[in-house]
Amino acid sequence: MAEFVHALKLTELPPGSAKTVEIGAAKIALYNVGGQIHATADTCLHRGASLGDEGSLDGKLVVCGWHGWEYDVTNGECTMNRSKKLACFETKIDGDAIWVKV
Ligand code: FES
Repeated sequence: MAEFVHALKLTELPPGSAKTVEIGAAKIALYNVGGQIHATADTCLHRGASLGDEGSLDGKLVVCGWHGWEYDVTNGECTMNRSKKLACFETKIDGDAIWVKV
């Protein structure tokens, strides 16, 4: 059963930034979109780049650093191929901590 796991301090993910965290065997990309925290699977569905570490966040879109695929981080959809979708994870902020449900 999924449960919330501590992922990062809020100060480690300022607005407009993305970061990869490893929780157990899962690699998860976290994004701060204007103070709202979103989480998706970290691996780009094209050739496997890390979206959190190698992508760049533009509003609610993360652009893969390898070949430019774009994903809406609020729902995981690839904007260039809507049949492709990243898994998304629920997040919460508690004090200065970011938690992810995995
Ligand atoms: S690996 Fe992400 S666009 Fe190619």
